[in-house]
Amino acid sequence: NRNHSITVLSGDGIGPEVMKQALKVLQATSDRFDFTVSTEECLVGGAAIDAKGCPLPEETVKACEQADAILFGSVGGPKWVNLAPDDQPERGALLPLRKHFNLYANLRPGVCLPALQHASPIKNELIPNGFDVLCVRELTGGIYFGTPKGRDDNQDNPTAYDTMVYSKHEIERICRVAFVAAMGRDKRLCSVDKANVLQCSILWREVATEMSKEFPEVELSHLYVDNAAMQLIKQPNSFDVIVTGNLFGDILSDEMAMLSGSLGMLPSASLGNQKDNGLYYGMYEPSGGSAPDIAGQGIANPIAQILSVSMLLRYSLGEDDAADAIDKAVKSVIDQGLRTGDLYTGAGNETKVGTAEMGTAVVAAIQA
Ligand code: NAD
Ligand code: IPM
Ligand code: MN
Repeated sequence: NRNHSITVLSGDGIGPEVMKQALKVLQATSDRFDFTVSTEECLVGGAAIDAKGCPLPEETVKACEQADAILFGSVGGPKWVNLAPDDQPERGALLPLRKHFNLYANLRPGVCLPALQHASPIKNELIPNGFDVLCVRELTGGIYFGTPKGRDDNQDNPTAYDTMVYSKHEIERICRVAFVAAMGRDKRLCSVDKANVLQCSILWREVATEMSKEFPEVELSHLYVDNAAMQLIKQPNSFDVIVTGNLFGDILSDEMAMLSGSLGMLPSASLGNQKDNGLYYGMYEPSGGSAPDIAGQGIANPIAQILSVSMLLRYSLGEDDAADAIDKAVKSVIDQGLRTGDLYTGAGNETKVGTAEMGTAVVAAIQA
């Protein structure tokens, strides 16, 4: 019998609501595929600030260190935006977790299921079979983490600054992840940068180009980020794998998520280096946030959180059959016409459901 352990950090807003459904699905899969996952729930983000006075308590980090992986919900919200920036949920918990565990590779699979074509804002004739784009986002560098970072208020004209920094080593390791991913897909990799303006991007392009010699089968292209944002809307299928820096990846992945029907559909895996057994320590979370505008109403889409469980099973636990079963179950409930409010268009076969009903339907599909 295989035993795994994960730390569960539900966080704020819709985090706990969608997490509850994801844990139901995890339980159903472990029952069906004969393994166990022990889950330890810890405080993070605004919930931890309210209970303990800090967004990332030491016991939370300790629990994560002892587990095989982290299943993360989302953090942040209006209640905490007036705290000092480094004491807020995002900069005080989420970014430090990514940095502490060296989770530099963020995989965001933007998949528009064929049955959700008409929920996409893209003209349907452009995506007759939906689309499937993988965004590989650098996650522990760039302008998020570069120093100096700060502000100077001791003058008439307050000034704030952030620094974008990338080293060759950081670019190489993320490009390698992207080339390897492309080898397992359609072998087309688009590196997205702003090399007409930014020094970081000039280095980025050089490193990506140099690495392409190691992967002659992969067709490497480069786009400026403004053009890439436009091309994604014009024709998402012109992309297979995208590799880009932290900030551009953040922005393009929300765009990609909406093109697939809703931000509530896009999961993510944040990975460090591959271990000898082929698995990764990782943190798995929806690409979207705590959605304060709909929190507490039981209407959030739990699919991004559920698909994050699938990625966790695949990349950190090696339970590929269980991961496949979750992906299939999600596709099946969408094919059945079940839609949370974010996906509901009123079309013929659609049934509007809440967060819990969607979770229950995925569980039923796994058991079927
Ligand atoms: P958001 O992603 O929370 O919400 C953007 C929009 O998408 C909202 O209209 C929301 O209702 C909708 N949405 C998002 N997820 C949904 C889901 N599962 N089902 C249905 N609709 C969904 O972005 P925001 O409003 O800019 O940020 C809110 C808070 O979340 C901020 O504090 C932000 O910093 C934080 N945030 C956290 C994470 C994270 O923890 N990983 C990610 C992004 C944003
Ligand atoms: C994401 C989020 C975070 C990011 C925020 C909450 C710090 O938007 O995971 O996409 O920008 O990385
Ligand atoms: Mn984001």
